[in-house]
This record gives sequence, C-alpha cells and structure tokens, in this order.
Amino acid sequence: MDLFEYQGRDVFERHGLPVLAGGVAETPEQARALAERLGRVVVKAQVKVGGRGKAGGVKLAATPDEALEKASQILGMDIKGHTVHRVMLAETADIAEEYYFSYLLDRANRTFLCIASVAGGMDIEQVAAETPEQVAKIAIDAVQGVDLAKAREIVAAAKFPADVADQVAQIAVKLWQTFVAEDATLVEVNPLAKVADGRVLCLDAKVTLDANADFRHPDHAALEDKSAVDPLEQAAKAKDLNYVKLDGEVGIIGNGAGLVMSTLDVVAYAGSEYGGVKPANFLDIGGGASAEVMANGLEIVLSDPSVKSVFVNVFGGITACDAVANGIINAFALLESRGEAVTKPLVVRLDGNNAEAGRAILDGANNPLVERVDTMDGAAKRAAELAAAGK
Ligand SMILES: Nc1ncnc2c1ncn2[C@@H]1O[C@H](COP(=O)(O)OP(=O)(O)OP(=O)(O)O)[C@@H](O)[C@H]1O
Ligand SMILES: [Mg+2]
Repeated sequence: MDLFEYQGRDVFERHGLPVLAGGVAETPEQARALAERLGRVVVKAQVKVGGRGKAGGVKLAATPDEALEKASQILGMDIKGHTVHRVMLAETADIAEEYYFSYLLDRANRTFLCIASVAGGMDIEQVAAETPEQVAKIAIDAVQGVDLAKAREIVAAAKFPADVADQVAQIAVKLWQTFVAEDATLVEVNPLAKVADGRVLCLDAKVTLDANADFRHPDHAALEDKSAVDPLEQAAKAKDLNYVKLDGEVGIIGNGAGLVMSTLDVVAYAGSEYGGVKPANFLDIGGGASAEVMANGLEIVLSDPSVKSVFVNVFGGITACDAVANGIINAFALLESRGEAVTKPLVVRLDGNNAEAGRAILDGANNPLVERVDTMDGAAKRAAELAAAGK
C-alpha cells in the first residue's frame, strides 16, 4: 500500500525523523485555517503519483488568504489521472541544497538497497539517467541493517558534504529503523534538504507498506484510502475473498489463481465473437470451496450490475467436484434466504477429482439457471453468449 505524503510525514515524525510541521486540508477554508496556525506554507497536492511539483501541484503561500487561493487551485486538479482531493500544508523551508535518499526492496538482487544522491529534487530521474555516477547505490544486508558505521559508508559513497555528513548519517539510521519497524518496501525522501540554518530536513515522504505484514500492524488499516477502493473489492475483502473488479460482463469464479487467470483469457477470447464481451472480475475462491465461500463469491459477483452471466470454473483437487457442486446448489438456497435470489445464468465447468459425481449433483438439482458445460473453452463460449444475450 502506498501512503499519501501527509501520512508518510506522520510516520517519519513518529520515528523521530526531522520533518516540518504540517497538516492536511480537504477544502480551501480548512487550508486557510491551517495556514493561520503554520504561517508561511507550501501547499502540496496529495496524490499517489510522482512529479506533483512539475504538474503545478506544489505552491508556496505567504499568507492564509494566499493558502486558501493556492489550495482552491490545487484541489480538484488532475495529476496524471489522479484527482486531488486533499492538500498538505507544511511550513516553508528556506532550501539551500536538495538531496535524494531512499531505501527499497531490491527484488532482482534479493536484498535491500539504499539509493542516495546529493543531486536530489525534482529532476532526480534525469540525473539518474544522464549522470548515474551522481547516484550511489548501496546494498543493505537484511540482518545487519544500517548502523552508524553503515550510514557513514552511505554518506561517503554518495559524497554528502562534510557539513551535513553527521546529520545525514543520523537520518540514514533512523530512516532504516522506520523502514524495518513499519515493514515498508520503500521509504523515499526527495528532497532531503539542507536549509539556511544548516539543518537537514525531510521535505517529502514517499512510503510503501508491505501488505503481507499487515497482520503485524493493526494501525496500518486506518491508512487505507477507502475512497479509492472499489466498493465491490472492499466488500470482497471483508469476506476474505481474492477479488479484483474488471470492466466486462462475464462474472468469473474459479479455484486457484492460475486457473482464474487463464479463465479470464479464454473468456476474453470467446467474447470477441460476441461483440467484445469481457470478464467482469477476477475471483479465486481457493482450495476449500465450501457452500458459504461459494455463496459469498456468488453474492459479490452477482451484485456487480454489469455482470450478465457467471462462469464457475473449478478443477477439483483437495476439494472434490462433488463438494463444489453441493456448494453451488447450497449457495443458491443461502442467497435466497439472504434475500439475494440468483437471477442471472451460471455456466459451470467441473473437472478433476470426482468430476462425474459433481456433474451428477448439478444435473440432479435441475436448476434452470445452471448450465453444465464440461470443457473450459466450451463453457467460456457459452458464458460469453449468455452475457451478450443479457446485455
Ligand atoms: N516545505 C517546503 N518548503 C519549501 N519548498 C518546498 C517544501 N516542500 C517542497 N518544496 C519544494 O517543492 C519541490 C517539490 O516538492 P516535492 O518533492 O514534495 O514534490 P515532487 O517531488 O514534485 O513530488 P513527488 O515527490 O511526488 O514527485 C521540492 O523539490 C522543493 O524544492
Ligand atoms: Mg519529491
């Protein structure tokens, strides 16, 4: 999960990194009120995309009225497809020099990496492309981490000036502690700035948290941007379902991520013959598809108004096809009892462990909304046809 800058700033502050006082506003009036408290401010668009400054999303304001004016210019702005709903206001710094500093997970080399440069600021991408010798890259051992000695090594490699070396080393250690403590996969400070009075401050904060470690961080849930999450995806998450909303018409339910991925492909392929019908979602219900899991999955998929048909594609493994077939039949009853009776057609393909028994159960139930097709391509074709007819 990527954080907004204002959230990253708070994380930095909690871990004792030097940041400037700041706050977040959703309206120009709130921005003025904040500026009355903070004094001269910088008003910054809060979007999860880089290059805000160059897009006009970072503006200085000398007075509260000016903060209101700049906030009203920035709020609602579109930056690379992201609408600005909030601005962060921070005290203005009198910047003397801008550096770049980050820690990240280096997947290719199976290690962590520190990237640091004294040529930071908004043109860091250009610096990295044109004068890569100005950008130091230092591998960080996961076990040893960054102590003061390692920090000094980084400072020397990136050639930080002597007058800021100690401060940068302290920051390097604290930033590493932040990276580890929060289970981040990225912490980036650009610019890390030397200001007129000689202090070194973090003037920007880009933080990505590792969702795999969420269980260790109950406080991270509050950082999620609920407004940006699709409501169906949110409902699915609440039911522990692995669901991704797509923009087609054929609802997809399968067991196993690989099978579901290839189901998306065959449906998209089959759909091209029916006016470009496409998959409406990705949903992997996993190995143990109980009636309840199947009902929850069907409920989510069917509550998507663009879904016109559903393709249930199951390869029986540890959970055999007869259990899945019973799950489907029971799911119909369960949904009806929840007042969500199924009205859209289902195409079911069962193969693998106990396929024959599963098919017999479906046939025996004789539900007019359930069609059994025993090949993946055939079922995809039929589901696409039904979706096209229901459009
Ligand atoms: N508190 C501040 N006071 C004065 N100037 C600032 C302050 N914060 C940022 N700036 C200036 O604005 C520039 C852009 O700010 P920032 O780094 O936050 O945005 P950005 O780099 O364009 O966005 P992103 O990092 O998302 O790509 C900085 O390089 C710095 O020169
Ligand atoms: Mg920046």
